[in-house]
Amino acid sequence: MCGIVGYVGNQEAAPIILHGLRQLEYRGYDSAGLAVLDGDGGVQVRREAGKLLNLEQAVSQAPVTGAVGVGHTRWATHGPPSQRNAHPHSSPDGDLVVVQNGIVENFLDLRQELERAGYTFRSDTDTEVIVHLIDQHYHNGSAGDLEDAVRKALLRLKGPSAIVVLSAHHPDRLIAARLGNAGGVTIGFGRGEMFVASDIPAILRHTRQVAFLDNRQMAVVTAHGAVFKDLDGRPLAKECTRIDWNPTAAEKGEFRHFMQKEIFEQGRSLTDTLRSRLDFQRNAVVLDSLNLTPDHARRLTKLTIVACGTSYYAGLVGKYYIERLARLPVEVDYASEFRYRQPLVASDQMVLAITQSGETVDTLAALEEARTGGAFTAAIVNAIGSQAARVTDGHIYMQAGPEIGVASTKAFTASTTDLLLLAIYLGQQRGVLAEAESARIIRALSMLPGLAGELLEDALQNDRYRELAERYHTFYNFLYLGRGIHYPIAREGALKLKEISYIHAEGYPAGEMKHGPIALIDATMPTVVVAPRDHVYDKMISQVEQVKARSGQVLAVAHANDEAIRAKVDAVMPIPVADELLTPILAVMPLQIFAYEMAVRRGADVDQPRNLAKSVTVE
Ligand code: F6R
Repeated sequence: MCGIVGYVGNQEAAPIILHGLRQLEYRGYDSAGLAVLDGDGGVQVRREAGKLLNLEQAVSQAPVTGAVGVGHTRWATHGPPSQRNAHPHSSPDGDLVVVQNGIVENFLDLRQELERAGYTFRSDTDTEVIVHLIDQHYHNGSAGDLEDAVRKALLRLKGPSAIVVLSAHHPDRLIAARLGNAGGVTIGFGRGEMFVASDIPAILRHTRQVAFLDNRQMAVVTAHGAVFKDLDGRPLAKECTRIDWNPTAAEKGEFRHFMQKEIFEQGRSLTDTLRSRLDFQRNAVVLDSLNLTPDHARRLTKLTIVACGTSYYAGLVGKYYIERLARLPVEVDYASEFRYRQPLVASDQMVLAITQSGETVDTLAALEEARTGGAFTAAIVNAIGSQAARVTDGHIYMQAGPEIGVASTKAFTASTTDLLLLAIYLGQQRGVLAEAESARIIRALSMLPGLAGELLEDALQNDRYRELAERYHTFYNFLYLGRGIHYPIAREGALKLKEISYIHAEGYPAGEMKHGPIALIDATMPTVVVAPRDHVYDKMISQVEQVKARSGQVLAVAHANDEAIRAKVDAVMPIPVADELLTPILAVMPLQIFAYEMAVRRGADVDQPRNLAKSVTVE
């Protein structure tokens, strides 16, 4: 969950590291630090509690100079957020520093062992054991071979860890290593300069040529390249990947927050998601990287979707799509539950992970469980080169571009769109989807970016959502209701509201309201209904009546031309009329904007909500 940036080259390292950390601040923001080698064989360290701004101020007051360095932004696991617990952590004589993303599960045993060996700990973190272990090996068994010392230290660790090591005795290099599912380690190739980062946006300004470390791999990075090895010291050949993202895709531009930018670029991101996937001539969907043969698709007896949070809700929409169009039973499970419940998996099943980051630890563990059971594994994943894309039999890239806002928005609409593509694809391969029906849906899909653009433009052009936030920002509880394919949208809307504005919100299937939640309804608990005119519209209207009969206020996501609902509810969040299969993808957008405006009105930190981090690489 933490963010790491490293630089070796010919420019000043500190500004490059600080800029990179800013792009990674979504991964953790409770403290930050950096270390830069000076020309006289010393390591200059600056560390500050709180947001990155504090570190930037510290560096401007006490500048560090040098062309090799490493930085870190932290999401606390061991030890509270404070200056002493901020990374980098240093060896006793300060000539070696380490930054880490991950958890050392056996850190107490290691700490006691190191204390017995004479090491004094200056922080509460698990990371400090890593630097002392490397130091111990460096001065003893490894006899001054840093690479060997790092390898030996890593082999003592239990739990996932991604680390970068810098040493005053080896001033031309950084050593980066990955053990387990600790989140990505990206090595960036420049001209006469090299980069290390937890995620691509941190270095996109400087290079688009990257390589990724897998589990149990390390890289010795100098200004002129990188040497890759496994943790047994065997050399590895690595291919570079070219990243096509535009560098400005990872910048905020004219928007106040990344989340706002990402909401309003969904017209564009959906265009990219659909790009080269729709074959109008054959009325087919192109998903080559899924690597699923028609024969295999026909033999599937079940599909299990595993995911967390927003990606899980996308999976619930996917269940509707796939069961309807491909007639394949779909189970949707929280990855954190699936991995521990000894699931029944077999070779005639497909297990599909949905993950924006491709690094969520529970989702990767669920995939591992599926692989062990012999299932065909696949991922709908946004982050290029991430672990989920690499460990699965096939994948579909969301093509949404970098998502920086901690609250997921454009990745939700991209992944639901991919699930619709997958449903058509499976329906065709399994011979259960009529050609005329696929042609109709493919035509409808091609309209999706335009419809999204229209909805978002309308929202930008008027004050509707700011006025709603003005009216509702002081309420403490909200109920979100949806039915059928819109039930997951109600849950996603509720999640958006709670995570960035800290207002309690429950997403519920509308038909279940009278089995419990109706007891909560009164004038202080507004209800948000997702009620486009579909086959359950009348039932949604009767829920509206029931809420109104109990003095409840109702806000409705409804078709822009639905005058009937407008007359019944307190406020409408309009969406354009579209094919029923596209409606969930459009209906979530007003809920994203509503949550955003509510959070802004309440003065919350939209891009860095408290306690959350974007890429959840620890349990
Ligand atoms: C909510 C949110 C999280 C993520 C979840 C899974 O806005 O962002 O709920 O959806 O942590 O993350 P990924 O998709 O990266 O596996």
